[in-house]
Amino acid sequence: MGYPHKSHPQETPVLSKHFGDPAARTLEGWKARGGYTALAQALTMAPTAIQDVVKASGLRGRGGAGFPTGLKWSFMKLDDGKPHYLCCNADESEPGTFKDREIMRWTPHALIEGVAIGAYAIGAETAYIYIRGEFSEPIRVMEAALAEARAAGVIGPNAMGSGKRIDIWVHKGAGAYICGEETALMNSIEGKRGNPRIKPPFPAVSGLFGQPTTINNVETLTAVPHILNNGAEWYKGMCLSSPKSTGSKLFSVCGNVARPGNYEVVLGFSFKDFLYDLCGGPPAGRKFKAIIPGGSSVPVITIEEAEQVRMDYEGFLEVGTMLGSGGVIIFDDAQSMPRQLARLARFYAHESCAQCTQCREGTAWMTRILERIVAGQGTFEDLDTIFDLSESMTGKTICVLSDSCAAPVVSGIKRFRGEFEALITGRRSSTVAVGG
Ligand SMILES: Cc1cc2nc3c(=O)[nH]c(=O)nc-3n(C[C@H](O)[C@H](O)[C@H](O)COP(=O)(O)O)c2cc1C
Repeated sequence: MGYPHKSHPQETPVLSKHFGDPAARTLEGWKARGGYTALAQALTMAPTAIQDVVKASGLRGRGGAGFPTGLKWSFMKLDDGKPHYLCCNADESEPGTFKDREIMRWTPHALIEGVAIGAYAIGAETAYIYIRGEFSEPIRVMEAALAEARAAGVIGPNAMGSGKRIDIWVHKGAGAYICGEETALMNSIEGKRGNPRIKPPFPAVSGLFGQPTTINNVETLTAVPHILNNGAEWYKGMCLSSPKSTGSKLFSVCGNVARPGNYEVVLGFSFKDFLYDLCGGPPAGRKFKAIIPGGSSVPVITIEEAEQVRMDYEGFLEVGTMLGSGGVIIFDDAQSMPRQLARLARFYAHESCAQCTQCREGTAWMTRILERIVAGQGTFEDLDTIFDLSESMTGKTICVLSDSCAAPVVSGIKRFRGEFEALITGRRSSTVAVGG
């Protein structure tokens, strides 16, 4: 069981340094690689001091929204006398995103260490790692590592001999995309249907089992031990552009590209160099056409836009898209954008929890209209209807699943309108659809 690619010289492997190294999976192997020194240090610090280091590092959530992690942790009232919970979001069902499962597969103790530090920093004695049920290997690896850590007293009633309790449990999901949404995730752990909850109350006030809760992504928590070991300044120093985008980030690359896989670069890296040097450019004989850079929920951009952008939170915003989860989906000039976007819309329609009318009906209508256009039976009014529909699907529902359907579709029509019009007027599309 090898790891698909060796690190490229322009990568900065921090989180991915031990990917492909089976010896790093065991407690002994992890300790030999410097593991658990950050947890030992953290347990001697005041929780607020840990929050301050994480705040100073500039770490932002890697699950999609990019919310500052230290700030999120500081929302937990440490002296409220209530049980607190940390939920690690390892659902990773966003199309195009496949980094968290690799962190769990190769460096389970890195995640355990990050979860334990995070739990302690927010005053939680119990943490759950919510893993998508289909991830059988990552689940097996995580459970084995947790058993080892428990047996060695690294976690448990007296974590690392500190007198502090930190219990960590794996909770398996059942493969619903919506359960990655933080409040649906909590419902799922509670044994309820995975429907998102209305906010407020926010999880830091009333979350899992009605108690104060923090939810963080796998990659976010795995970065924390590195920050404690090397200091906030070191992390902040990993920055090629905006001081609001610090640290390294894993990008999952898939689609029409010579070298798909996970790549870790410092935020602010040139997207052009990333696409052509690290990922090897388009497949032989083809050209890149369009890119969804942050997992399927963010707007699609043209290759021309992509080539001038820097890979950070602000850079992607400037060209009208988002860094999101870092799932880079690439389309070459052989792809039909209407067909690809219809396919994406169908995914969202299938995954809608159906609580909100705008989402339940909107994602389904959008899919039907797009599929009609792809079948050569669309009209120009259909394009207007999609824009109207997207208005009611954006910012009006309990969670952002319907926004996530509308974003790639609307941006795709705006940027590749000619392909839609060609299908509507019955002319051949400017590109030939393959593998649709
Ligand atoms: C439909 C939907 C699915 C989501 N799926 C995931 C997921 O699989 N993993 C994840 O970390 N965040 C996911 N999120 C974002 C989470 O709600 C939450 O913002 C995130 O886990 C917070 O962690 P962070 O602050 O460390 O980024 C999803 C959000 C939505 C609306």
